[in-house]
Amino acid sequence: MRIDIFTLFPEWFGWLSEQRHVANVLSGGSSIECVNFRDHTPLTGGQVDDTPFGGGAGMVLRVDVMDAALRGRYGVDPVELRRRRRVIALAPTGRLLDDGLVDELAGEPELTLLCGRYEGFDERILEHFASDVVSIGRYVLSGGELAAMVLCDAVLRKLPGALGDERSAHEESFSAALEGNPEYPHYTRPAEYRGWKVPDVLLSGHHERIEQWRRERSRERGAGEASGGH
Ligand SMILES: C[S@@+](CC[C@H](N)C(=O)[O-])C[C@H]1O[C@@H](n2cnc3c(N)ncnc32)[C@H](O)[C@@H]1O
Repeated sequence: MRIDIFTLFPEWFGWLSEQRHVANVLSGGSSIECVNFRDHTPLTGGQVDDTPFGGGAGMVLRVDVMDAALRGRYGVDPVELRRRRRVIALAPTGRLLDDGLVDELAGEPELTLLCGRYEGFDERILEHFASDVVSIGRYVLSGGELAAMVLCDAVLRKLPGALGDERSAHEESFSAALEGNPEYPHYTRPAEYRGWKVPDVLLSGHHERIEQWRRERSRERGAGEASGGH
């Protein structure tokens, strides 16, 4: 998978690329490349933003700057580009990222991520250049970089070779293997600590009963989640 990230802070992504599961995927032929859209601005002084029409606080990322940056990278009109590859703008107002969307994105050969800053994007960027607008939660971050990293982490760990044991990604919270439910609880040694005992069934060595116990706990958590609890 080839991921391009449009950001004003490309240096942030050095850290992400060094993390074990990301590095595993990158060494297998995938790539994460950053484009600083300030480098493509047609405006003087590296300007990328401007004051909002209608007044108000903050600065808005300009549509002509993003147009120039996307054209500079791909050599096509960004309106056409989004028909060829997923161009994902990170924004708090977007579709909430969940395991289903992560699975969908993990099947793409190429992704382009647009990281906002300040008051966010001129709406025409979202309307005309983005194929998707994605939010990582109903709260506001200072910029799209952390949101892009969350998306990259979740997507890349689904790719072959990312994790030491492929089974780790198969049976995880919200996966189809667990019928979309949260994962069951895990325990390790010691079997008893401060009087807190590990459930007997997990020490029984009885694989079918363990499997059944795990499914039941997972479903219970799913039901609890639906009613607002853990
Ligand atoms: C300070 S935020 C802009 C918030 C915007 N004025 C609003 O109220 O919706 C700046 C940038 O951070 C990113 N961002 C902030 N929160 C996010 C979230 N929950 N999910 C995805 N991106 C987010 C977006 O790229 C956004 O353009």
